[in-house]
Amino acid sequence: MCFVNNKETKRRIVLLGPPGAGKGTHAKDLGEALRVPHVSTGDILREAVKQGTAVGLEAKSYMDKGELVPDEVMARVILERLRQKDCAQGFILDGYPRTVHQAELLKEGLKKVSADLDVAIEIGAPADLIVSRLAFRRVCRNCGATYHLKNIPPKVEGRCDQCGGELYQRSDDEEQTVRRRLQVYEEQSALVIGYYRGQGLLTTVDGALPRQKTYAQLLEMVGVFE
Ligand code: AP5
Repeated sequence: MCFVNNKETKRRIVLLGPPGAGKGTHAKDLGEALRVPHVSTGDILREAVKQGTAVGLEAKSYMDKGELVPDEVMARVILERLRQKDCAQGFILDGYPRTVHQAELLKEGLKKVSADLDVAIEIGAPADLIVSRLAFRRVCRNCGATYHLKNIPPKVEGRCDQCGGELYQRSDDEEQTVRRRLQVYEEQSALVIGYYRGQGLLTTVDGALPRQKTYAQLLEMVGVFE
């Protein structure tokens, strides 16, 4: 596949949407197409939990229940990540911001390095589709690639196509926790959509379509053409 990726292409991108909408799946592909890092706060937190760091210990109890980790913890995590050199030319933010306060902190943080967001893209998907998607999601323990046992299955059962790593099911993908995450999204994170709409930065794609169709919409939104 050949892409035209030029000066007008958007590179400071926030992906919004409910759990299971496809943020992680598309952020990974988009990051590769634009040659900017995919910054997932969920992945950063899961790694911190695995390493047993102070942030990980604090975050775990919230994540297990499907609740949001407090804004001040998240602000430290994200600003430290965005200050790294590889984010200088852009980034795909997946999972941040999730509250209006986080969105404001992000704006202030970017201002300090004379940068602004280019676009906030909402990936929409209905709740019943999300519950079924997350029940069948499997993630590579090694590289984080995501599969769906029915729609996007690995070539070899239980193994990642890309690196051969072991595939596992996230503990917060249990139905009860998914329903709580959806409720938290509606109560707190959906307000972020209105925040970016008010700033004139919001655009929407349909996350319920087959993967390649949603991805084609995303490429168009960021100004990359085949
Ligand atoms: P996080 O890891 O960010 O979870 P999430 O936002 O709930 O999102 P998911 O990873 O579940 O979904 P996704 O949209 O990435 O979907 P995916 O692409 O995998 O956060 C986890 C927790 O960390 C939070 O609950 C919270 O506690 C904490 N946290 C993180 N950030 C925070 C913050 N900023 N503030 C406070 N707390 C924070 O796709 C899902 C499945 O569907 C996959 O199996 C995929 O293969 C499949 N799929 C995707 N698209 C398609 C398609 N078009 N067709 C068919 N199948 C598809």
